[in-house]
Amino acid sequence: MPDAAAAKPLLRALAGETLPVPPAWMMRQAGRYLPEYRATRAEAGDFLSLCYDPERATEVTLQPIRRFGFDAAILFADILLVPQALGADLWFVTGEGPRLSTITTPAGVAALKPADAIHDHLAPVYQTVRNLAGALPAPVALIGFAGAPWTVATYMIAGRGTPDQGPAYALIREDRATFEALLDRIEAATVEYLSAQVEAGAEVVKLFDSWAGSLEGGDFRRYSVEPMRRITQALKRRHPGLPVIAFPRGAGARYEGLHAAIGADCIALDDGVEAAWAAAHVQAGGCVQGNLASRHMVTGGEAMDAEIRRIRDAFAGGPHVFNLGHGITPDADPENVARMLAVLREQQT
Ligand code: CP3
Repeated sequence: MPDAAAAKPLLRALAGETLPVPPAWMMRQAGRYLPEYRATRAEAGDFLSLCYDPERATEVTLQPIRRFGFDAAILFADILLVPQALGADLWFVTGEGPRLSTITTPAGVAALKPADAIHDHLAPVYQTVRNLAGALPAPVALIGFAGAPWTVATYMIAGRGTPDQGPAYALIREDRATFEALLDRIEAATVEYLSAQVEAGAEVVKLFDSWAGSLEGGDFRRYSVEPMRRITQALKRRHPGLPVIAFPRGAGARYEGLHAAIGADCIALDDGVEAAWAAAHVQAGGCVQGNLASRHMVTGGEAMDAEIRRIRDAFAGGPHVFNLGHGITPDADPENVARMLAVLREQQT
């Protein structure tokens, strides 16, 4: 790894170094809580147009870096661009969220495009990555990402976000072979997509398995851990040394042992796990990311400060990337974000 890259705090933490101040970034750091994001999004017209507009997607990715000085930028895009590239219809309903054409039959899976046919559709995203690779300040690392197969499948099967992933579980129950065929298609496309992001300049990739927590028994391993392990392995084979962050949100006690099970350099923690527990049981396996509850970005104050210090101190004995436990919400106050970084980086006695 070149020296300049090795010096980036995020890459050092992901490589297993314990730093005096953990590098920090925030999920959804480019988002609606920022007036400059809302202005650029309005120029683009809507959210998906913004995702496919390399100049404006670059601009919104850089906005929180300029304003706050995070240690990492995450590509501005969405996990649902992959289903769209595979041939699904995708649109966003204001105030409600994503809608997709549903896929629940063998014919529906068979009609999806092959994994290596996604690149034309996703070319604007790769262009955004190239723009960012040339525009970021030297110490700031560039993170690419994709949804993990299970989470992406839950949206493709239901045609929308679901509180309990009911339609995906119904398909597992009624036609497991079709469900697994869909998962395999997503997995193959995800390897191609992330590999192209790395070729365009992403230095780290993150897999978001937002709905991993609801998988039970052997299905957690089969449908969350194993696909992420295979994707990680395939990417590392193509791009030796590539750091991978895996985020199986809601894993609870099953977070223990996941570095080894997935082969990931970093496991991202949601705010449902206690930092002291995770330091003893998860950080032993490698770098951890997390896990301040997002609501502190809304409420701020001394309760936020105390929580930041508690999390920082709990993870101070090993490699740690400071982050929220989930994405920042539109009602967050940007002042709290600035204060979060100031508290995190305060001189320690
Ligand atoms: O973290 C980042 O800043 C990078 C960009 C990013 C977005 N979405 C931008 C976005 C990332 C990594 C995602 C991941 C994503 N997208 C996930 C996994 C993580 C998670 O949050 O659980 C999921 C499930 C999605 C699908 C998705 N995209 C939903 C359910 C929604 C609607 C919910 C909402 O907040 O409105 C989106 C929209 C979306 N993706 C927005 C952003 C900034 C808001 C769009 C807007 O500007 O209106």
